[in-house]
Amino acid sequence: MKNIGEISKQKPWLNWVLFFATVIIVFFIGLFAASIIERRSEAQLYFQMVSQIPDWEPDNAVWGENFPRQYERYLMTLDTTFESKYYGSVMIDYLEKYPELVVMWAGYAFSRDYNQGRGHYYSVTDVHNTLRTGVPQPATCWTCKSTDVPRMMNELGVEAYYAQTWAEMGPNIQNPIGCQDCHDPQTMNLRITRPALVEAFARQGIDINNATHQEMRSLVCAQCHVEYYFGENNYLMFPWDEGFSAEAMERYKDNIDHVDWVHALSRAPMLKAQHPDYELYMTGIHAQRNVACADCHMPYMREGGIKFTDHHLVSPLKKVDKSCMVCHRQEESELIARVYEQQDRVSELRKIAEKNLARVHIEAKFAWDAGATEEEMAPVLQLIRHSQWRWDWVAAANAMGFHSPSEALRVLGTSIQKAQEASLKLTSIFRKYDIAYPIQMPDISTKEKAQEFIGLDMEQIRADKNNWKETVLPEWLGQH
Ligand code: HEC
Ligand code: HEC
Ligand code: HEC
Ligand code: HEC
Repeated sequence: MKNIGEISKQKPWLNWVLFFATVIIVFFIGLFAASIIERRSEAQLYFQMVSQIPDWEPDNAVWGENFPRQYERYLMTLDTTFESKYYGSVMIDYLEKYPELVVMWAGYAFSRDYNQGRGHYYSVTDVHNTLRTGVPQPATCWTCKSTDVPRMMNELGVEAYYAQTWAEMGPNIQNPIGCQDCHDPQTMNLRITRPALVEAFARQGIDINNATHQEMRSLVCAQCHVEYYFGENNYLMFPWDEGFSAEAMERYKDNIDHVDWVHALSRAPMLKAQHPDYELYMTGIHAQRNVACADCHMPYMREGGIKFTDHHLVSPLKKVDKSCMVCHRQEESELIARVYEQQDRVSELRKIAEKNLARVHIEAKFAWDAGATEEEMAPVLQLIRHSQWRWDWVAAANAMGFHSPSEALRVLGTSIQKAQEASLKLTSIFRKYDIAYPIQMPDISTKEKAQEFIGLDMEQIRADKNNWKETVLPEWLGQH
């Protein structure tokens, strides 16, 4: 064998061939590198705005003029067709699906109406429609529904905003959740517009202005997808002073004697969990591995050379290829099966907790009716309060436990244990007052039967709501 040196000695023209070949290769490498740089600068191009966005601009379409790609995807939140095993954007009537909930919420507006959430674009419409706003509510209820909220808070001051009623504030609230809620209109940087989040961290000595970019990609969601309660003068509060866990928030609420409502059957001083998505997520493996809400729910998309963030906020199972496959290497179908497997387990325990809770509320009513004393009932009611809070901490959070499956199962386990302990305590009260045990359970197998059992006149409630929609709502919507 000859080496290249010897060949080129015999054939000098080969040196020239090698030389030009190298020149051509280097030229193409250069072109390729230039195109990468160009793509990068393209990726930043759309930060240059065609028009200035005013400081408190609530109208998403105005922002959309500058950022058509993000706006177009944002408008996709109008789509209500996607359905996964437990979630998606279709309207699911939860009371029909889980009729026990009606009994568990007796005496509270949730027993009238409770649906699976839809896309951000529906946030204002769905609040207009729900039968829960048929009872007097404070303006605080609007806080996580609209881009008009930062504007109104700026106009009135935060305290004065919360102090208004839901109806007083109504005409000012026109635009659904959108750009203003998460972005600074001058720089397009992510920003926090809801003071409750900033204040909750500040009470723990954390300045949220120092959050990392990756943390911000979850914190913008934590403005709304969290547990909260209405404090003094309906001031919005996150109960995080003792920590994010179900037990820590339970302790916090016990310490301030917070009661959302007194249960109509058991008379237990109840707590309602809202949607502790951020809190449950924080206990899971993805949060530990620094994966943000936006990583799964707002994956990157590509259009030509332009990379941008998908603003169609929806179940990630609609787009597993972009949401999960960036990090995970198994087959898509395998990963989805794994998600369903985890959700099935949580769903199984959840249903057991619901059966236990509905029964124990009804048992407690039997005990009261037979003449049980406050003193006898107090420990039972405390157990019911804690059991239902823990169930709700998992059930009200979205994703059927996926955001942290083992924590969801653990908390449901303690919920079931507490409901059963309450039942056990009741059996000795039953013995004392000579009540036959087990008690005769009413038929609560459908939403209608359960609502009749707790004494709701749904026809009247619906008629009142329709009347409101025909008379008051057009006035509100005509304001702007
Ligand atoms: C590791 C990926 C991942 C992360 C991180 C993540 N989620 Fe999810 N999320 C999911 C999956 C999977 C579901 C279940 C979807 C289904 O069952 O269709 C889900 C469901 C949801 C839903 C209900 C969707 C629906 O269709 O109604 C909401 C709301 C939600 N997540 C909010 C959040 C928030 C807020 C955060 C951050 C605090 C977060 N998620 C972090 C993967 C993720
Ligand atoms: C200003 C409050 C607010 C912010 C900020 C917010 N959400 Fe939401 N989100 C809501 C409300 C309210 C709904 C339910 C809307 C409805 O059902 O009408 C919702 C619904 C959803 C859904 C369900 C969509 C569907 O098709 O069922 C997902 C998923 C979701 N949000 C994820 C997120 C993520 C991820 C973030 C952060 C990047 C975020 N949200 C930020 C208030 C907010
Ligand atoms: C729920 C919060 C949320 C809402 C609402 C929202 N965005 Fe974003 N937006 C994000 C997140 C998260 C990113 C990713 C930012 C990052 O990682 O730096 C982003 C990124 C962007 C970017 C930077 C380029 C890109 O695509 O990554 C632009 C521009 C943008 N959004 C425009 C908009 C517009 C226009 C709207 C309203 C139609 C909007 N956003 C609504 C959370 C939101
Ligand atoms: C940014 C990267 C990233 C993204 C995006 C991501 N994951 Fe993960 N996921 C991880 C990491 C890291 C782990 C932890 C692996 C470990 O430490 O063993 C994990 C763990 C998991 C697990 C737990 C494995 C088990 O023990 O069962 C499941 C299930 C999972 N992810 C599903 C999903 C789904 C579904 C999505 C999309 C909705 C998703 N992940 C998106 C990085 C990611």
